[in-house]
Order: sequence, then structure tokens, then C-alpha cells
Amino acid sequence: MALSPPTAQVNGDRLWHSLLEMAKIGATPGGGVGRIALTDLDRAGRDLFARWCREAGLELRVDRMGNMIARRPGADGMAAPVMTGSHLDSQPLGGRFDGAYGVLAGLEVMRALNDAGVATCAPLELVNWTDEEGVRFAAGVVASGVFAGRFDLDYGLNLPDRAGTTTMGAELARIGYAGDAPCGGYSVAAFFEAHIEQGPVLEQAGLPVGAVLGAQGQRCFAVVVTGEEGHAGTLPMRLRRDALVGATRMIDGLNRLALATDPPPVLTTGYLQVQPNSRNTVPGKATFSIDLRHPDDAMLANLAGKVETLCREAAARDGLDIKFQETSARPAIAFDPDCIEAVRRAAKRLGLGCGDVHSGAGHDACNLARATPTGMIFVPCEGGISHNEREAARPEDLAAGCQLLLEVMVERAGIA
Ligand code: GLV
Ligand code: MN
Ligand code: MN
Repeated sequence: MALSPPTAQVNGDRLWHSLLEMAKIGATPGGGVGRIALTDLDRAGRDLFARWCREAGLELRVDRMGNMIARRPGADGMAAPVMTGSHLDSQPLGGRFDGAYGVLAGLEVMRALNDAGVATCAPLELVNWTDEEGVRFAAGVVASGVFAGRFDLDYGLNLPDRAGTTTMGAELARIGYAGDAPCGGYSVAAFFEAHIEQGPVLEQAGLPVGAVLGAQGQRCFAVVVTGEEGHAGTLPMRLRRDALVGATRMIDGLNRLALATDPPPVLTTGYLQVQPNSRNTVPGKATFSIDLRHPDDAMLANLAGKVETLCREAAARDGLDIKFQETSARPAIAFDPDCIEAVRRAAKRLGLGCGDVHSGAGHDACNLARATPTGMIFVPCEGGISHNEREAARPEDLAAGCQLLLEVMVERAGIA
């Protein structure tokens, strides 16, 4: 098949420079980014993105969940927009590309279309979704979930932080991003999200881009184990109700359960808090998270039941009280076959090697897929490493994924 010239040429250097500029906000000593949602650093990242959008002539609005939506009008003002986007918030010790790539690749699409003077029939919209990562608040991808009709606005705005001291709505107001545009409620023609793969498949296959077939299901839990505080020097071992010891037995048991299950899930405890967290007090309370994922929904449900039973039985054996609460659940997602095919087709037209890949991570695209034809484009990242300051990606792969994003968006929107 003859290769077609690109509709408009993205500028890989400009994309790379924008990524590095954004990465200065919340830069960590280890070369990564810590830009947690709805902090002052998130505000600074949003302000920079807003400035870039205005400089590109985009119409920017902020919705009730703080989602920032930049619009490039189309010739047909009545047509549903073709949308792209991702997230500018990060893990506490995250990388420079997780999320930021999808937002800034979308911006580069808009800039490249401006440079080439290409007008589309349908409008194009670029979104920075609020709080994809769910580090600070009880759950992630909630704002795109409200947009897609998965959650009520009140649930999103009242979502508490882990410390129980504030809510998403209050923090949005504090940083000046509690917008007044309605969150969702209109038709979107298609949503395409570009993202680093966060896994090793594309790199090992030597492919610059991937068409994403879907994402595995996920269930998350918060567990509070309560025992009794006591003096580290005087309370005999046999009489203790040590909440941390109980929690670590549960965490070890969960890890063994995951390792013994076939086909295997992934199960992570990444958050643990001990009270009163003092060297010479027997811990009275331990709170920890469980993030459980599996591609098969029936197996996921079965495992979730086993996880709860394991924790409750361990607590009973150790004479501890337990509160076991589900904080979020999402079934496995299959992306839209036409969107997947559009990515494969455009890659072929551009002469880019493209393979089919599955997503281990969750994405805002998983929420959008419930309401809108949705697809994702992955590009490789070094060693598949992500949620790590060392996360790295090659400028040429990032540019290739961005060019592919431009092609699929313009194909969907039509040239005026
Ligand atoms: C998002 O990064 C997730 O998959 O948890
Ligand atoms: Mn991400
Ligand atoms: Mn992430």
C-alpha cells in the first residue's frame, strides 16, 4: 500500500519541548514529576496549559469537575466534537510522560493543524481531565466518570481526601478551577487518548505505536485494622493487639493469593498508614489500600470475594477489628472496534509499525468508552517502566504517536 502524506505535520521538537517545560512543574530530584491533583503544583500546570491553549487560539472552558476543555471550532458548528485528552496530574514520584503526553500530544495536534491551515468539519476538543491518578482522593478517574455519566456530580465534588479533611470540590475552588460549565451532557463523536504504554510489549516488539484493544477490570478497597495501643516496653507480646502486625499478615496473605491464582491478577498495597506511628507505641490502627486487577470480570469478582474473606479471617485470628470498604470498581473495557481499526489504518497510511496491545493501567478513556466510541494510541516507554521517576520515552516515538493521533482525529472530524 502506498504511503499517504500526513494531513498536517506535527512538530516533534515542539512537543518534546512542551513536555520538558511541563515537567519542570513539580520536578523531583530523581528526574520525575510529583504534581498531585488539586495541589498548588497542579494549579501551576493547569495555568501553563491554559496559556498554551489560548496562544493556540483555542476556546477554553472549565467544567464543574475542573476538567479543562479546549475547543478548536469546526466548519459545522452543530457537529459533535472529536475529542482527545489525558491528565496533567501525576503520582507522588511519577514520570514526565504518564498523562502529560496525551494532553500535550493533543495540543500539538491543534498547533500543527493551525500551522497547516487545516479546518475540520466537526470541532476538535482537547481535555485535561481532573485527577486521573487518585493519589490524594478516595478514587481516581472520577472527573471523567462524571463527564461520561458514570457518577453524579455531587459524588465527585464531595469525594473526600484520604485524610478526610477536605473534598475535591473544596480543593477545586481553592486552586481556582471550580468551573461553571456543565460536566458532560453533550454528544461526543469519538474520543482518542494517546498515552505511553506503561508496559514492555511495544518496546520488545520494536514498534513505535500500538492500537489499544481494551483495559483490564479493577477493584479497589480501603482496609482499616484496629487493635489497641500500648507501651512497647511493658506490654507482653502475648497480650498485644498490634494493628500493624495484623495488617502485614493480611498483605502477605493477599500477595500469596495473587501469586497462586491462574491466570494471575495483579494485586498491590501501595498505601499504608500506621497510628500513632511512634517507635515505642504498639500500633493501634493501620490503614491500607488494595488495588486488584484482572482482565476477566468473573475472575475479578471471585477474587474480590476471596480478598475480603482473607482479611476478615486474619483479623479474627489476631483479635483485631476490621473495616473493609470498596472504594472503586470498574469492569474490563473493550474499546470501539471502529476506533481501533481507524488507529491501525492510519498507522498503515503513515508507514508506522503498529501492534495490538492491552492496557494494564486504567485511563480516562475507560470512562469515555461507556458513552462514546473510544480508542487509544500507545507509544513505547523505556523498559515499560512507569509510576517511577525514571519513566522515559523516545522523542521520535512520542512524535509518531502524536502524528497518528492527528490522523485519526482529522479522519473522524472530516476536512472542511
Ligand atoms: C492509573 O495510573 C492506574 O492505572 O491506576
Ligand atoms: Mn496515565
Ligand atoms: Mn498513572
